[in-house]
Amino acid sequence: MTLKRNKAKFRLKFIYCLQLGAKPIVIISILIPHLDIDMSSVLISGGNGFLGYHLVEKFISKGFDVTIVDDLSTSKRSDLLEKVTFYNKRIEDFNTDEKFDYVVHLAARPSPEDYISSPVETILSNSYGTRVMLETARKSNATFMYTSSSEVYGNASVLPTPETYYGYVNPNGIRSCYDESKRFSEAMIMAYRRQYNMKVRIQRPFNVYGPRIREDGIYGRVIPRFIMQALENKDLTVHGDGLQTRSFLYIEDWLSATMKFLLANSVSHEVLNIGSDSEITVFELAKLIVEMTKSGSKIVHTEAREDDPRRRSADLTIVKSDLDWSPVVSVREGLQKTIKWFRMRSE
Ligand SMILES: NC(=O)c1ccc[n+]([C@@H]2O[C@H](COP(=O)([O-])OP(=O)(O)OC[C@H]3O[C@@H](n4cnc5c(N)ncnc54)[C@H](O)[C@@H]3O)[C@@H](O)[C@H]2O)c1
Repeated sequence: MTLKRNKAKFRLKFIYCLQLGAKPIVIISILIPHLDIDMSSVLISGGNGFLGYHLVEKFISKGFDVTIVDDLSTSKRSDLLEKVTFYNKRIEDFNTDEKFDYVVHLAARPSPEDYISSPVETILSNSYGTRVMLETARKSNATFMYTSSSEVYGNASVLPTPETYYGYVNPNGIRSCYDESKRFSEAMIMAYRRQYNMKVRIQRPFNVYGPRIREDGIYGRVIPRFIMQALENKDLTVHGDGLQTRSFLYIEDWLSATMKFLLANSVSHEVLNIGSDSEITVFELAKLIVEMTKSGSKIVHTEAREDDPRRRSADLTIVKSDLDWSPVVSVREGLQKTIKWFRMRSE
């Protein structure tokens, strides 16, 4: 299909029939609020992953026509793929003449376990992959959104970190395949925006978690790792002294900010932090998860990770005012829902 999938809005009119006693049927057309079904189309790379799944579910519920391109490299095939147009492909090899209203580029290897073992694939999805998605958006005249990362700040010296902080990143360290390719993508997106006047949105998520987050291995993301270890009564492995902090954002909060940012007709800032401003040390997090799972696990310390930032905290001043949004789910509440989901999975 070469035409942009229509952006039709269907207006449903309700006609009510009333029978009043023995009199003829009276037909009343009631002007109750019209139901608008948005038939916009959206292309999502990495739509089968953790963030993608929740986003796709949301788009489907809003009536969007959804297309996913995902090579299933870091995710297991999900039920949602039956409800959308799905291309099982590497983003770098994706090519289409189809037109979309929105293009969202999520495909990447976001877990340290992946990017340390597959640094080349990591760089390519955030460089060549970004270009493919940008070109698709440009040809469609679509709004383009990219999930960059708080990792672009590296080991930040300004905390909480605002969008204006340029970052302190090791350009060739073990994490550079991820950090630097996210930074490169941001630069490429802004080049497209300046040269082609495209509508672009760059978000920098800070440690999003919730149901469906991947059960990573020992080097993976900290919340699923701790929950899995606690549920299996294994030692919780804290890298280094555990005094490094993170700020965690529950998936529902991420989703509400993302939808507002993407669907806004115009934005004051094209780059936004999407995170939480409440910090917790990794050691406190481990203790909380042991307590909430009522686990017999011990907390042990392993070697600190190379280039692991000491603190991570989002300055949310701009996003709060631009999107009229704030995170509302506490860490305890979010963990409760996440632990419940992990328990259901293991039953
Ligand atoms: N979850 C977070 O806390 C977080 C934080 C910062 C940034 N991000 C960014 O958000 C995006 C989504 O993260 P996630 O947590 O959902 O990760 P995820 O691993 O759950 O999902 C990524 C998806 O992309 C697919 N994929 C990977 N490389 C691909 C390629 N080359 N071609 C096609 N598909 C490919 C995977 O199969 C997977 O389905 C990533 O770009 C990540 O860097 C996430």
